[in-house]
Amino acid sequence: MKTIESFGVVGAGLMATQLVLLVADKLRVPTLISDLSPDRVSSALHRIRGHLEKQEYRGRLQPGEAAEIARLIRGTTDPSGFRRCDAAIEAVFEDQKTKRTVFRQLEESIAPDALLLTNTSSLSVTGMARGLRHPERVLGFHFFNPVAVLPLVELVRTPFSSSPALLTAGDLAKRLGKTAVPVADTPGFVVNRLLTRLFSEILAEIDKGGDPATVDRSLETWGLPMTPLHLIGYIGPAVQRHICDTLHRAYPDRFSRSASLTAVVEAGLPGFFDENGKVPQAALILPPEPHEVDPDRVRRRVRDALAQEAQLMLDEGVIATWEDIDRCMTLGANFPPGGLTRLLAT
Ligand SMILES: NC(=O)c1ccc[n+]([C@@H]2O[C@H](COP(=O)([O-])OP(=O)(O)OC[C@H]3O[C@@H](n4cnc5c(N)ncnc54)[C@H](O)[C@@H]3O)[C@@H](O)[C@H]2O)c1
Repeated sequence: MKTIESFGVVGAGLMATQLVLLVADKLRVPTLISDLSPDRVSSALHRIRGHLEKQEYRGRLQPGEAAEIARLIRGTTDPSGFRRCDAAIEAVFEDQKTKRTVFRQLEESIAPDALLLTNTSSLSVTGMARGLRHPERVLGFHFFNPVAVLPLVELVRTPFSSSPALLTAGDLAKRLGKTAVPVADTPGFVVNRLLTRLFSEILAEIDKGGDPATVDRSLETWGLPMTPLHLIGYIGPAVQRHICDTLHRAYPDRFSRSASLTAVVEAGLPGFFDENGKVPQAALILPPEPHEVDPDRVRRRVRDALAQEAQLMLDEGVIATWEDIDRCMTLGANFPPGGLTRLLAT
């Protein structure tokens, strides 16, 4: 197992800035952040410092701690700057080619046994490792947004993954205060695959002409942290459509492409509801006959779909046990205690 005394984060966007804050705070080791342009890097450093100062002001950090953590964080645009890092995580755009380029560049300078992690939500980790000089140290290390709140990391192994890499990553997750659940390298891993199956069933009702607000309220009795359509707004309709497409390509019989979601994305809307909680006309793809929504039937439909998807993941060896699925859904998607098992029993 490798001791991590210096850490690197590639990308300075939404996830990367949160990852830098987590690593510098929990590990208290020098932490490097990079992006393509100096502007992006300096704007991320500015956000990071602002966040640390706010945490200290609110009493979540001791006086002087914000400056102490900020001193550990440096920015760069030079891929060779990662030379001294014992581990690096990439959180660049969700694009396989970009991620492969990032890993190839990292290998030019980083130590041969340094851990290379990817925060991808749905892409093939094996594909990113293939062709590298040391693919055995590449792992998926999938955090959930917001990183400070959701304690899950999906730990994605590939056929190349070595035991020391897996042990180092497991220990890293623990030191970061996260729970790592091992999952296989399959599209959407566990949490996004189950959430996307849920969205797929809900969106199919809306595509048939069901009233979006009524369909969306169907799962209210389950006590989920957000209704499905609000969650799609939080994730971002374009990002979720991208994940839906990936899962549709992998499992076309069970994951549909939604005309309503496409309409929302193409109209540039931030979600299915406007600021007054109303569904904008552009989000509605109504067939000639309106589709009557029976919340009990929708609930049954979603429950049956989730039960089927979870069983398939167990049969395919994507995840080891029902307990692990429940852990993933409570820690990564904020499902109520008992996770999926409890919902399926209601
Ligand atoms: N947004 C989420 O809720 C979420 C949750 C979990 C995982 N993820 C995953 O995390 C990754 C990042 O997502 P995000 O939402 O933070 O993206 P983002 O668009 O906010 O940030 C991506 C950053 O990567 C930079 N970048 C692109 N190519 C680069 C390169 N070659 N070198 C250095 N920097 C480069 C971009 O300039 C941009 O600043 C994606 O793989 C995404 O699937 C996102």
